[in-house]
Amino acid sequence: MSKTKRINPRRPLVAGNWKMHRTASDTKVLIEDIVKRVDRVANIDLVVCPPFTSLAAAHETLGRHSILALGAQTMHSSKEGAFTGEISGPMLREFGVRYVILGHSERRQYDNETNEKVAAKAIAAISYHLRPIVCVGETLTQREAGETTAIIDTQIHTSLAGFPVDQIEELVVAYEPVWAIGTGKVATPTQANQVHRQIRKLLVKMFGDPGASIRIIYGGSVKPENAVDLMAEPDIDGALVGGASLDARAFFDIIEATRPARPNVND
Ligand code: PGA
Repeated sequence: MSKTKRINPRRPLVAGNWKMHRTASDTKVLIEDIVKRVDRVANIDLVVCPPFTSLAAAHETLGRHSILALGAQTMHSSKEGAFTGEISGPMLREFGVRYVILGHSERRQYDNETNEKVAAKAIAAISYHLRPIVCVGETLTQREAGETTAIIDTQIHTSLAGFPVDQIEELVVAYEPVWAIGTGKVATPTQANQVHRQIRKLLVKMFGDPGASIRIIYGGSVKPENAVDLMAEPDIDGALVGGASLDARAFFDIIEATRPARPNVND
């Protein structure tokens, strides 16, 4: 198994989280539509995360040279074992998967993906050369109670405990306020950037200077209409897109909104 390629620090990243949408045959159609549009897009990392059952179709449709990387929506921390219904890192790698979303709020809410489990999964993912996209975010009740800072602090510290510093540039953190996911209620660019700045400070405290190179992407009702303003914020390095990533045109428009706002720092 080859090691993941080194990436530029803070290169923008847009990932589509398809959740439980699209059969394998529908996946082929959507991937073809996206690839057609993003073919010449440069200076940005693009990821699509279809359901497990669509990964083979996605992999086959993408071929070897694609600009689109494949991601999964979760994984188990063990290599193999008696874990009915679960999927491991090596299984994902065999389908060309390069990224894995961990600790998404829907997994935290419905499948008991706790901070501790996320930490174990993130360490396992990196050992299988999968880049973890670790999600954090507060609920509406927590925000209204003034608990956002404390919640984010705990989620970052516990979910990233023990993550190897020498692999830190492979890590992606997604800030997704739970109240903004699938609700059409997007955080204002200022609200989002405030939390991103807090996360960056925490990452530097935990991992030292290399922590500053970790990409922090925003998720929660990102649409073509709000992407330009969100992506213009200095601490927002890209987007994790749910609903809008199922529409190739909307996904492409979000990519376009992200790219010029945050050019590759090495350009
Ligand atoms: P949404 O989902 O864009 O549909 O709000 C984002 C996510 O859950 O990652």
